[in-house]
Amino acid sequence: MEKIKILLDCDPGHDDAIAILLAGLNEKIDLLGISAVSGNQTLDKTARNAYNVSRYLNINVPISLGADRPLKRERLNCGEIHGESGLDGFSFPKYTYDYDKRRAPEFIKDMLLANNDVIMVTTGPMTNLAIALSKYPEIKRHIKKIILMGGSIGEGNISPYAEFNILADAEAADICFRSGLPIRMIGLDVTRKVLVLEKIVKNMGLLHTKSSEMFVALMKFFNKTQKEVFGLEGGPLHDPVTIVSLIDDRVLTYEKMDVTINICNTERYGETICVPNTNSNIEVATKIDVNLYWEVIKAGLNKY
Ligand code: BDR
Ligand code: CA
Repeated sequence: MEKIKILLDCDPGHDDAIAILLAGLNEKIDLLGISAVSGNQTLDKTARNAYNVSRYLNINVPISLGADRPLKRERLNCGEIHGESGLDGFSFPKYTYDYDKRRAPEFIKDMLLANNDVIMVTTGPMTNLAIALSKYPEIKRHIKKIILMGGSIGEGNISPYAEFNILADAEAADICFRSGLPIRMIGLDVTRKVLVLEKIVKNMGLLHTKSSEMFVALMKFFNKTQKEVFGLEGGPLHDPVTIVSLIDDRVLTYEKMDVTINICNTERYGETICVPNTNSNIEVATKIDVNLYWEVIKAGLNKY
C-alpha cells in the first residue's frame, strides 16, 4: 500500500510533540518534513522542541524554521500551558541544531513541488502555510488536503468564541480557508473529548518504551497546567487527532460545512463560523471514537 505523504507544520507544545511521535514512525505515513512556527512558545523554542522530539525518537526528517510572528496581529504565545521551554516536563539530550537552510514557506514549496498528493497537516497557527500559499500559488496542485487542528463549532479556549491556533493568526487561517483546497478541520469541540486522564497516563506508562516514558513525563506537566488554567482533570490531547485520523479513518466523523474565519476586530475575532453545506470543500470533524483514539496512540507509543 502506498504511504500517505505528509508535511507537518507545528508549534510544539506538548500535544504537537505527540503528533510528531505518531507521524514519525507509522507504516501508513511518509513524513516528508517538519516546519515550526511561533505559537505555544516563541519560534526559537518551538523549533528546538520539534528538533528535540524528532531526534530523540530517531525521526530523521528535515526541520525548518518558520514565521516568528503572525501576519498582522501581535504575537500570542501560551507559556502558561506549555511552560517556559514550550515543552516542560522532560529533559532531552543536547543536540547540534542542524535546521534546514530554507525558511518554512520555501521549504514547504520545495517539498510540495517535489511530490504529489501531499497532506499538509497544521497543528499550530497557520502562518507558514498562508505565506507559502500566497507566495507560491503553484503549490496548490500538489496539496491533496489540508488537515488542521484548530477552530471549533461554537466554543473557544482563548476567548469564548475562538480557539488558540486560529486566534493566534486569524488572517493566516483566513487565507488557508479561502484557498479552495480540500480541508479537514478538527476543532476544539472534538479534541476536548480526548482528555489524558490519570488512568491513561498510567496505562501508557506500563508500556515502558522510550516514547511512553517521554509521553508520561510530558503529560504529567501538561495535566498540571491544564488543571490550573482550565480546571480540567486531564489535558485535551488536541493535535495528535490530525495524525490519528490518517492512521485510522474510523476515528472521526465529519460533516461538510462552509467555514468563515472572523477577522474583524471584535470580541469574536478568530471565531470559525461553520454553516452546513453538502457542497463545501471543507469537512469539519463532529464526532470522535474516544476508545479507538487511545488504542491508536498506544500502538504508536509501542513502536519506539
Ligand atoms: C491548540 O493550541 C495549542 O496550545 C495546542 O498545541 C493546540 O494546537 C489547542 O487550542
Ligand atoms: Ca499545537
